[in-house]
Amino acid sequence: RRVLVLHGPNLNLLGNREPSIYGKTSLDAIDAALAELGDELGIQLDIRQSNLEGELVTWIQEARTGYDGIVINPAAYTHTSVAIRDALAAVDLPTIEVHLSNIHRREEFRRHSYISGVALAQISGFGPTGYLLALRGLHEHLASNGT
Ligand code: DQA
Repeated sequence: RRVLVLHGPNLNLLGNREPSIYGKTSLDAIDAALAELGDELGIQLDIRQSNLEGELVTWIQEARTGYDGIVINPAAYTHTSVAIRDALAAVDLPTIEVHLSNIHRREEFRRHSYISGVALAQISGFGPTGYLLALRGLHEHLASNGT
């Protein structure tokens, strides 16, 4: 199995960026934990971060062949990007939306996600653990679907 993990804008700054909201864990540490879990579950992970909307769209499009699912934290694009939503709808792979913070208990503008309408599930508020839960959940989903 192969899963694409995408981190959206500003997540490269994790650890330094608003630590009271996003915690002190770096993106490298999150990616290392994901890679370890991927090994345990027998999932090959392709992990990427971009600050550019179009680059994320292109990577999602490329996942059309050879991938079984997507884990994505679209970051601020969650609340703005019809293009990322449309790309996910086009590839039609099971997608788990992850947010470190609980977007529903923050500012009003973070409550709406363009992504959740095309996602299998949303995990929000568990910090870095959310990515691991997402990968486990996706793995169970793929196994139960027999794909
Ligand atoms: C975020 C929540 C978004 O509202 C915000 O723009 C981010 C990170 C999260 O992981 O909690 O950049 O997706």
